[in-house]
Parts: sequence; structure tokens; C-alpha cells
Amino acid sequence: MSKSNPKETRIWPKGYVPSKEMTSYDNRNNLLTTLLTSKIPEKNVNTDLFYVMSTRRSTRKFSSRQVEQWKIDKILAAADTAPTAGNFQGFEIFYVKDPKVKEKLVEAANNQPYVNTPVVLVFCMNPDRVKLNFTPEILAKFSIQDATLAAAYSQLVASALGLSSIWIGMIDEEKIKVTIGTKLRPSSLLCIGYPELKRGPKSRRKLKDLIHVV
Ligand SMILES: Cc1cc2nc3c(=O)[nH]c(=O)nc-3n(C[C@H](O)[C@H](O)[C@H](O)COP(=O)(O)O)c2cc1C
Repeated sequence: MSKSNPKETRIWPKGYVPSKEMTSYDNRNNLLTTLLTSKIPEKNVNTDLFYVMSTRRSTRKFSSRQVEQWKIDKILAAADTAPTAGNFQGFEIFYVKDPKVKEKLVEAANNQPYVNTPVVLVFCMNPDRVKLNFTPEILAKFSIQDATLAAAYSQLVASALGLSSIWIGMIDEEKIKVTIGTKLRPSSLLCIGYPELKRGPKSRRKLKDLIHVV
């Protein structure tokens, strides 16, 4: 909501219009729930959480096919459902649409060319939002966890919708900040699109090396 105009009813940012038009925006959860629960207009999409988890696979080769707005809506809405420290939501998302900015992000991410995908999201920490009476170190830790969880939720939803993604952690934080025009520290990039090839999940370690019973 625009701070300068209290009569402003638009609750989405400039440059982003969700696919679901609503006449009344009583509260922000109204839109969030509508976006999340809107019917999926595609057959053969299996959104069962456990199916999604057991089949998700990162991709570094994307087709040029554009991502439908309703899918972008759900991916962004999913981030907003993640738990956050004290529910202070200590993170923000930069949804990069400008092709020139995407190109610059490639360079800011150690020249990883697959950063330039149809949907690029930069997850940033905002510890100033976390109004808890703890040390700056704790608040920084909370906000990186907030941003990371949100990105993970978005990644899972992208996968559920037949898309694929690559999580980018190898970034030059300062270059990313300059590129997207923020003072907030970026935690990760999530680069999303249709995979050229759908592949099965990667193997993981033995359960005994993962879980320690104490
Ligand atoms: C914290 C983190 C940082 C990552 N950074 C990068 C990166 O900078 N570049 C990249 O190509 N992949 C990156 N990845 C993707 C991982 O390589 C990938 O998730 C991993 O190989 C497991 O494959 P899967 O996602 O298909 O299960 C990162 C993943 C995580 C969670």
C-alpha cells in the first residue's frame, strides 16, 4: 500500500499485477489466500507435497518458454507463507523483470550464465523489520533464516507447478545490491523457468549419516 496516498487501495507493487483481480481487498491475506488456492488450470500437475519433495531437481538448462503469471503469483505468495522470526517477516523479495538487470546479475553471481532465467527472484534480509529485543547478531541470523525459508517455499512451489529452478548462493553481495538498487543484504537468488529436460532427483547420503539420535 502506498504510504503517500492513504486512499490507495492497490496492495501490490508497481510493475507487478497479480493474475487474480479482486474487487475488495479487506486485508492482505485475502489476496494471498486467493492466489494460493486459485484452481490450477493445467492437467497433469501433481501438487502433492510429498510427490513434489521426492521429485524436485535443480536445473541449469532452461527453455526460453515464459512462465505464466498465475504460476509467478503462486511462487511469490508461497514465500509469504513461510514462518518468520516473531512473524516480523525479516526479508524482502526483488522480482527482477528487466532483462538488462538479469544480465548484470549473471556477472554479480560469479558469471553463472543460468542466472538469466524467465523468473529471477532475489531474496534479501531485512533485520530492521524484526522488532525483537535481541542483539544485532541474533536479528541478522533470524533475517537470513527468514529469507532462506521463504526462498525454499518458493522453490518447492515452482517445482510443484512443473517448473524448475536453480538456487544461487555464490553471489557478490555488494554487486547484487548495486544491481537491484537496495541496501538490503541478499541471501540467495532463485532462478526459475521451464527445464529443457526433466530429470529425476539427485541421490542423498545414508540416513545414518544424516540423523543423530541423542
Ligand atoms: C545454499 C545453496 C547455495 C547454492 N549455490 C549455488 C550456486 O551458486 N550455483 C549453482 O549452480 N547451484 C547452487 N546451488 C544449487 C545446488 O548445487 C543444488 O541444490 C544441489 O546440487 C542439490 O541438487 P538438487 O537441488 O537437484 O537436489 C546452491 C544450493 C544451495 C542450497
